[in-house]
Amino acid sequence: MNMNKTLMIGAASLLALGLSLPLASQLSADDDSAREGGIIQRWFGEGDKHSRQSAYLKDSDYARYQEECGSCHLAYPPGLMPGSAWQRVMGGLSDHFGDNAELDEASVLQLQAYLLRHSSEKSSAEYAERMARATQGRPTMMRITETQYFIGKHHEVSPEMVKDNPDVKSFSQCQTCHGRADQGSFDEHEVSIPGFGRWED
Ligand code: HEC
Ligand code: HEC
Repeated sequence: MNMNKTLMIGAASLLALGLSLPLASQLSADDDSAREGGIIQRWFGEGDKHSRQSAYLKDSDYARYQEECGSCHLAYPPGLMPGSAWQRVMGGLSDHFGDNAELDEASVLQLQAYLLRHSSEKSSAEYAERMARATQGRPTMMRITETQYFIGKHHEVSPEMVKDNPDVKSFSQCQTCHGRADQGSFDEHEVSIPGFGRWED
């Protein structure tokens, strides 16, 4: 049963990979970038976007990060906050949003260095560039969900879809609505809210 499901999901992803790019190019055939770049260039463009999003996943410290920071919530892609915010988070792990997430000093330094290597100023993911711009010159925050960029993107999502939704509970649980959050992908065309279905905007 589970095996079948896994296989089906696997097959569906392969299909989606094979089909979505050419399809997307056709569907948007009359927007400017398609006219200028043509289908081949759009393919490379998409591939490029993917590799830009996933640099933090290829870092040899990712496994450690995932292990220490991915048990209570998504191991947030570091590009979602500026370095100063990550430093503040790492400096207060014994009182971490009401939880104790304390680590030994060497681990704190190792993970902090990892986060700083891929923070929003360093990452070239699309959302990272936007986040860097939105947080520049503002007081250091500790939450992705408190930034103007995040709030601006989610203001149409109502409390019954989040707080009052037993399958979501909190905006901090990104992966409940963004199925590929663990791949660093938050594309608004891929959003599906548990109990409410696909997000159409
Ligand atoms: C013992 C559980 C636990 C561990 C381990 C943990 N966290 Fe958290 N974290 C939480 C809780 C609880 C919240 C608040 C979630 C909420 O408000 O729904 C949180 C929130 C966060 C947020 C803010 C998310 C937002 O709302 O924007 C960041 C950033 C974060 N954690 C980073 C980390 C990092 C980095 C590590 C590893 C060093 C880590 N966490 C390890 C429990 C944990
Ligand atoms: C309850 C569901 C839900 C949760 C939980 C959620 N999001 Fe979203 N997110 C959305 C929806 C819906 C949109 C699209 C909004 C729109 O533009 O219409 C979106 C859009 C985004 C975008 C913009 C994508 C784009 O293509 O421009 C980013 C980035 C994003 N979310 C990041 C996050 C992060 C990071 C978290 C966790 C800290 C998170 N989201 C948690 C529902 C959610």
